[in-house]
Amino acid sequence: MSISAFGIDLGTYNIKIYNGFNETITSQKNIIAIQKIMNKKNLFAYGDHAFEMYEKAPQNITVSFPVINGVIADINHMQILLRNFINDAMNNNIRSADYYISVPTDITGVEKRAFYDLVKESNVKARNIYIVEKAIADGVGLDVDVVNSQGILVVNIGYETTEISILSMGGIVLSRLIKVGGKKFDESIRNIIRKEYNLLVGIKTAEKVKIALPKLEENKEDAIVYGRDIVTGLPVERSIPVNLIEKAMSENFETIIDSVRVILERTPPELGADIYRKGIFLTGGSAGIGDLHELIAKSTGLKVNFSVNGEESVAYGLSQIIKTESLRSVVSTMQDVEY
Ligand SMILES: Nc1ncnc2c1ncn2[C@@H]1O[C@H](COP(=O)(O)OP(=O)(O)OP(=O)(O)O)[C@@H](O)[C@H]1O
Ligand SMILES: [Mg+2]
Repeated sequence: MSISAFGIDLGTYNIKIYNGFNETITSQKNIIAIQKIMNKKNLFAYGDHAFEMYEKAPQNITVSFPVINGVIADINHMQILLRNFINDAMNNNIRSADYYISVPTDITGVEKRAFYDLVKESNVKARNIYIVEKAIADGVGLDVDVVNSQGILVVNIGYETTEISILSMGGIVLSRLIKVGGKKFDESIRNIIRKEYNLLVGIKTAEKVKIALPKLEENKEDAIVYGRDIVTGLPVERSIPVNLIEKAMSENFETIIDSVRVILERTPPELGADIYRKGIFLTGGSAGIGDLHELIAKSTGLKVNFSVNGEESVAYGLSQIIKTESLRSVVSTMQDVEY
């Protein structure tokens, strides 16, 4: 059933778009490359193509992420990106559509309004613009009955943020957005390699090592990395033991686990029964990192359901909200947002 609507999860790393016209979810890097020629600035590349240039671009090309820590930091570039992504989704023929955009809960009203303004001002022929709290879309995307349950704990670990939320009866009871996620994991890996091996590796290399970690652990292999030796200044190859990578990650894991515990301590006791019965829902692109799900389970005594396709759970939830009449109560308009 084709619906003229889009669901958008505007991440700091990936923008995930549900296209109701052809019922697909696509993900692109939420990044833009701007070229400066004389005094003019031109769009050089966007999305995955721009990401290929990240850390490699010449001086006259600036590659940047317009969403920082979960909020829109650069509205002009974000508008250009959104318009191009929607234009591609509609094969260069933008038709009018409803937009459902997910927003973090623990941000200011002004920051929330920016998500609405973004869609309104990107020339994408938006008919109606609806706001959906990210954690609610996540819950729906993970097949939880968010409208009738009393007590659901969702932890979404993304790139720059981790959002920890308690949902009940289709609304949010508590939510905290902390600045830890995949980016911090990558930085910790870079830092420990620099400290222990005097070796400078790129961000993408660190990310590759992080993603390969479970496989390396399973095969009991070291991580092979290429980088620049800080002392000699020359490019080199080194093998890095897996336990060093695990050590780099542990501090970040502690921050996440502490925040989950703080939220649990503040949760009204009446909601505890459902949380205990259902366990914690761990999602987001970084949900599968190392043995974090086991550490959370150990430290909270709760079972942890973790999503293998966590990157898309918000966008998938938005698609369900768009298609299902009985989920309409979780949607709000800009008038409902207090600020
Ligand atoms: N298999 C994997 N193991 C560990 N991390 C992964 C894996 N696959 C992707 N990631 C990480 O997931 C992160 C991206 O996740 P996601 O798309 O949920 O973030 P985002 O929504 O853009 O960010 P945010 O929610 O913080 O705004 C990246 O840091 C990426 O390295
Ligand atoms: Mg996200």
